[in-house]
Amino acid sequence: MAHYVGAIDQGTTSSRFIVFDQAGSIVSVAQKEHEQIYPKPGYVEHDPLEIWRNTQEVIAQALDKKGLSAKDLAAIGITNQRETTLIWDRRTGKPLHNALVWQDTRVDPMVHALAKQGGPDRLRSKTGLPLASYFSGLKLRWLLDNVPGARAKAEAGDVLFGNIDTWLVWNLTGGPDGGRHITDVTNASRTQLMNLHSLGWDEDILRLFDIPEACLPKILSSSEVYGEAKGVLAGVPIAGILGDQQAALVGQTCFQPGEAKNTYGTGCFMLMNTGETPYPSKAGLLTTVGYRFGTAKTVYALEGSIAIAGALVQWLRDNLGLIQASSDIEALARSVEDNGGVTIVPAFSGLFAPHWNADARGLIGGLTRFVTKGHIARAALESTAFQTREVLDAMAKDTGIAVKELRTDGGMVVNELLMQFQADILNVPVVRPKVIETTALGAAYAAGLATGFWSGTEALVQNWAVDKRWTPAMATAERNRLNAEWAKAVTRSLDWVG
Ligand code: G3P
Repeated sequence: MAHYVGAIDQGTTSSRFIVFDQAGSIVSVAQKEHEQIYPKPGYVEHDPLEIWRNTQEVIAQALDKKGLSAKDLAAIGITNQRETTLIWDRRTGKPLHNALVWQDTRVDPMVHALAKQGGPDRLRSKTGLPLASYFSGLKLRWLLDNVPGARAKAEAGDVLFGNIDTWLVWNLTGGPDGGRHITDVTNASRTQLMNLHSLGWDEDILRLFDIPEACLPKILSSSEVYGEAKGVLAGVPIAGILGDQQAALVGQTCFQPGEAKNTYGTGCFMLMNTGETPYPSKAGLLTTVGYRFGTAKTVYALEGSIAIAGALVQWLRDNLGLIQASSDIEALARSVEDNGGVTIVPAFSGLFAPHWNADARGLIGGLTRFVTKGHIARAALESTAFQTREVLDAMAKDTGIAVKELRTDGGMVVNELLMQFQADILNVPVVRPKVIETTALGAAYAAGLATGFWSGTEALVQNWAVDKRWTPAMATAERNRLNAEWAKAVTRSLDWVG
């Protein structure tokens, strides 16, 4: 009998393969970063072939490390950076262009043009999403309009669209040789082409965006056997697909309405389970599919998406050379007592939730000659906590639910300074679970549920355990002062361009 379930976690910065046991503990892991391509301001691209190569490498490495092989895996799940958009040739498997990453803002002019007639929320009731450069639909439109010959081939069904989940499943199941062209409801809900109520592609929106249905994948649930893998995982059922933030919701076992998690990765994403009907937002959040396990009812979520969190630390490392490794940020931030009056608003891709301001740009404010790189490091970490506070406030406004305790996960939660500051600025306790790789865990859970490796969601809830809890320790006056400074800085970053 196979004792493990594997998960491919294809994120914005890196690809990982993680093997989990029945207790939800990590047995083996391998990871590899891929290149971030910035052809011009606002453009962010990935090479899909590099992502596919890295995925195969990390699978082989993770298995190798523990002397495992395909037969040790009962199933694999896939979780992925959402919205990132690519098209490829069905016959050759070659992408026609680099993938447009979710942070890419090149379609802003289309967003403005569409918003002119009907406003930025004209598609909210159908899709749960405001018009924004973030989602895949307009990125696909851009590719079809700008890559010579792409539109005609897409209309003929010879060029396929996919987010990264679709790209990986197609390749894993044989590529040009019979690869399955599918996606799951959570990823489809981020294209802005799927109707949240019918869970099918919406004809009116396809017409509005000028997208031929022939190039779109089939939408399936998040947990079912989609097919068998070929190659190094030959014979292993692929049985779970979830967008990475929804996967973290599952990995954190937020199965009850009102339960929420916050994932600190490249960006930062809070999702709250809102039950079996889509919950509309008036406070700047997204309504999205949380998960759908097989034929069970679809569970929806409210989401607060923050574009830049860990990416700001990477920017300090790669663009400014302020630190050598991302993990150096905590020591540098601890070298000073406080932010020294500095606020950073990392609006690199405009500002997402709750502002949805495409024309915002990043700023570093409050500089004096007193300021050192320690203060900059501190302000960088604090910006993630402030943005999370704005999202939590929006959740409370929309739902009337004040989250009593915030479940956190993702790479940045090893940063104790950030976690304490987060609790302080929210005035809500912050909890880190034992397994912080909840994204991969959620995908493994979806795959293991479909194949009977886990009996049901109760078994998964049993696996969840607290590692550490931070309780708020900041005086109210100080919290109010810092929040007011943040609000002032955000106001200045809005509508910077245009
Ligand atoms: O919506 C974008 C999100 O899925 C990316 O997640 O973890 O790669 O920052 P991450």
